[in-house]
Formats: sequence, C-alpha cells, structure tokens
Amino acid sequence: MKNVNVVLGAFYGDEGKGKIIDYLSKDARYAVRFSGGNNAGHQVEVNGTKFAFHLLPSGILNENIKAILGNGVVIDPKVLLEEIDNLKKHGYKVNNLYISEKAHVIMPYHIILDGLLEECRGNNKIGTTKRGIGPCYCDKFERSGIRMEDFISNHFKELLEINVKNKNVILKAYGYEELDFKEIYNEYQKYAKELKKYVTDTTTMLHKAIKNNENILCEGAQATLLDIDFGSYPYVTSSNPTIGGVSTGTGIGSRYINDVIGVIKAYSSRVGEGPYVTEQKNEIGDKIRELGHEYGTTTKRPRRCGWLDIVALNYAIMVNGMTCIAINHLDTIGKLDKIKLCVAYKYQGKETTDFRTNMDFLNNSEAIYEEFDGNFGDISKCKTYDELPENAKKYIKRIEELTNTPIRFIGTGAARENIIVR
Ligand code: IMO
Ligand code: MG
Repeated sequence: MKNVNVVLGAFYGDEGKGKIIDYLSKDARYAVRFSGGNNAGHQVEVNGTKFAFHLLPSGILNENIKAILGNGVVIDPKVLLEEIDNLKKHGYKVNNLYISEKAHVIMPYHIILDGLLEECRGNNKIGTTKRGIGPCYCDKFERSGIRMEDFISNHFKELLEINVKNKNVILKAYGYEELDFKEIYNEYQKYAKELKKYVTDTTTMLHKAIKNNENILCEGAQATLLDIDFGSYPYVTSSNPTIGGVSTGTGIGSRYINDVIGVIKAYSSRVGEGPYVTEQKNEIGDKIRELGHEYGTTTKRPRRCGWLDIVALNYAIMVNGMTCIAINHLDTIGKLDKIKLCVAYKYQGKETTDFRTNMDFLNNSEAIYEEFDGNFGDISKCKTYDELPENAKKYIKRIEELTNTPIRFIGTGAARENIIVR
C-alpha cells in the first residue's frame, strides 16, 4: 500500500525537479502538486518542444495520468487557464485535470499586495515572484480566503465583495488606487465557469487510487530552504514545500509514502534575496550561470550561482527523510576545470556540519571545500553510471559518501533522454 512517491527540491528551488518528474511519470497514474502556486517554474522538453509549467503538474503531459492540483496549492485562475490553453494548442485535450475544491484562489488584490508589501520592506525585501502567493496564504490562514468550491459557487460574489472592501481599506491607507469589485467579479466569474468542470474532492480520489494500488507521484515545487518553517526565514516562500506539505496539501498520510526523492544540481543556485553560504559572486558564479542557463523560468531573473553545499543537503535529507538523490546538470559542472564541494562550515572559529537557518549563522558561516577535477567531456551519451568518466564518478561517489544516500538519477543534459537511472 506504499504507492506514493515524492519529488522534493533540496535547496533553494530550480533544481530541475521537472526533469525527474517527467521521467517518473512513466510509471505513475496520478501526478499531484501539493503546495505553492505559479511562483514555481518547471521546464520539460518533449520531442524538441519546451513546456514551462508554473501551476499544472508536469505529469499532465502523459495523458494516461490524472493530474491533480491538491488542496495545499494556491491557484491563479487566469494563469491556470493560460496553461490549459497552451496545452490545447499543442494538441493535448486536458481531460485529465482535477482541482481540489479546497485549494485557495489567488485574486488580483493578492498580487497588488505582494508588490506593496515588498515595497514596504525596502532594503529588507524578500525578492518574491510578486505572484500574490504570500498574501493568498495569509488570507487562507486568516480564514478569509476564497476556496475553489466558493469560487465556482453562488456565494463567490458575496465573498469577493467583502474581501475587496477589506483590501481597499489597506490599499487606501498606502495611497494606492482602490479596486472595483464589479470589474473583478465580471472578469473572474468567467474564469470560474471555465474551471468548474475540473473541481472535485481530490483527497477521496487519491485514497481510492491508493486502495487500487495505483502509483501516485507528488511533485514538489520550491524547495527545502524556501520552506516557511525549515527554510531561511524570512527569505522563504509562504508554504511547506517539504515532506509535511505533502500530507497537509493532499490528505495523504505518511504511511502511504514510499520514496522521497531529493533533487539537487551538481552546483547550486538561488533567486531572490537571502543568505547563501556557497554563493560565488565572481567569475565562477557567472560562468556557472551561463553554462547552466540559470535565468528564472518564472521571473527571468538571473539566478545567483555557487557550489554544491553538502551541509545544506544533509539538512534537507534529514528534515524530509529523503531516501535517494537525483542530481541534475552533471554535464554543466563537468565543463569547469575544477569543481568545489562544500563539506563543512566554519562559524565563530569552529567547524560544523550542522546546518541551521538562523540568520547570524548563515550570514557569518564560511564554506570549507574539497576540490575535484572537472573536464568530464561530453557525457550526454552516457546511458549508465559505468560509462561516465572517472572524474565524474569521483564527484558522484563523494556526494554519496558524505550524505550516506544513494544517487539514483543523474541528469546529463537538457533533453528528456539525457538521464542515467541506477
Ligand atoms: P521552483 O518550483 C526558485 C523564491 C522567490 C523568493 C521567495 C519568495 O521553480 O523551484 P514567493 O513568490 O514564493 O513569495 O517568493 O521564494 N521562490 C523560488 N525560487 N524556484 C521556485 O520554484 C521558487 N518559488 C519561490 O524567488 O526568493
Ligand atoms: Mg523556479
């Protein structure tokens, strides 16, 4: 009965979760997003066509799969409809989408408030994606949010009116233009009509699948160090992209979970503000950015780049109970002459391998590195671990040793087939 597998980001997002999800989708009957919203950006390349998903589970490309947006997800209806339309343009019927009636809806005022709050933070800004994610989750926990089941019902109008009235008080106080309830209602009720057919009780649906022994793949967005509880608070997102989020965001208890796959890159990256111990604000960081095309899928921002951090990775493995690792961009890091791997931090003169999210700790820790030889050559054709060059194997082996966790997937290029499975 343990037929649920989970893919999670181990670091600050953009680890290439989409690629691993795409591979694992072959054996899955359900693909489920459980947290976050369109702050995510997952790219999958199929037969030369690149798809960028922000909201839809990437598993939706497999029409034998039922794609689910769980109750923990926050949904911008406009963005969702755009993604559905784009799939239709590419010949997909999108008959395989199911949206939890409990998922919350991102409204225009959430997006405005996201920008406004960032402005107010001044130099302490978080660097959010300004998609309204934080304010939507605020309303959810404050209990004034609009769920999908409200959105498609008759009382949407009333709920919206109250919300707009309350938000206008805030907007006015900050000198912003007030919103027109009717205008929003007219636009959004059209979206509600279009989305209605997808809305259902996804929790019961998933539990029927569990009983039928059908494979379920939970697709993490964001990542461990962006988690509201376990990440580098306040430089985090407003949800739990860690393992607990799977249960609260779908209704699937931990007893049904089998593999928890932690996705990393052979180096690291971060978008937005916040501490980053192994960041390379130098030519190396610039080179990694260019070689790895490290520009945001969602915001197009250049990503901050640096070395892989084992201290942070071991923390991610610990808090999520990751059973194995998927490493992407081994080809990219192999283009460098020398590769560094952070194996410990030095904080207040002492060496430590215990990761903490305390700001003073992260801002004042120095990375201690081991160095490896790069120049892997073209590894995109390697189909097995044994075919990899010695230098690449040494790097992989050392990561496994330091984490005591098997690396089961190795990404060797951007295309779907550039993957080694062990
Ligand atoms: P995927 O799924 C990378 C970051 C933002 C910002 C912080 C808070 O592609 O890995 P938010 O808009 O969520 O309130 O922003 O979190 N962030 C991500 N960074 N990849 C993501 O998703 C991210 N989702 C949010 O840049 O620093
Ligand atoms: Mg991203």
